[in-house]
Amino acid sequence: MVIKTAEFVISNTQISLCPSPDKPEFAFIGRSNVGKSSLLNMLTGRNKLAKVSTRPGKTQTINHYLINDSWYLADLPGYGFAVASQTNRYQWSKMIEQYLLTRENLYCTFILLDARLTPQPKDLDFIHWLGGKNIPLALVLTKADKLSRNELASSISLYKKTLEKTWDELPPFFVTSAETKTGREEVLGFIAEALERHN
Ligand code: GTP
Ligand code: MG
Repeated sequence: MVIKTAEFVISNTQISLCPSPDKPEFAFIGRSNVGKSSLLNMLTGRNKLAKVSTRPGKTQTINHYLINDSWYLADLPGYGFAVASQTNRYQWSKMIEQYLLTRENLYCTFILLDARLTPQPKDLDFIHWLGGKNIPLALVLTKADKLSRNELASSISLYKKTLEKTWDELPPFFVTSAETKTGREEVLGFIAEALERHN
């Protein structure tokens, strides 16, 4: 897919202020610092579209970007920081939960996972929670450039093995790097297919 235009639309903390749900939407979710904003910039080819920071908790609002005038990318705050509440079982803010449960134009939620980490209980809980709610999801291992080829293969294999324990069929799975643009065509191809399927 060719990205012709990518524009920032709105940043907010209220679901009611999100753009009207009249276009397909894809969301990026994952723990703070996993690389959601960087992936958004890499996919769109606009390096400064979403703000990136070495400090976790940079993105604290839901940010909508309109792509090719026809679909949305939503960059969400990371969990495990800032928006997490102690009492919430998934340490999710009500905002994100409400977004995921009510956003009717959500075609797919990409859950980002740091390729350098072993599968983390918090991420697995979240993946299962989404699966249980029948919210379409895909998994994205990020920061692939930080691992050697062998380390990356082990990480992918460990994630898949862990998920196979509870999933009959693995969700779509991508490996990306915002540095080297690894996975760009694959993720954009998946989005293009999802858009066509829903047409
Ligand atoms: P929050 O908004 O805080 O939730 O973080 P985020 O998930 O949006 O992460 P962000 O894109 O801001 O990136 C966090 C840090 O990781 C930054 O220093 C990025 O430069 C770095 N980073 C992100 N993706 C990659 C990648 O693919 N490779 C490498 N080497 N660094 C990355
Ligand atoms: Mg961010």
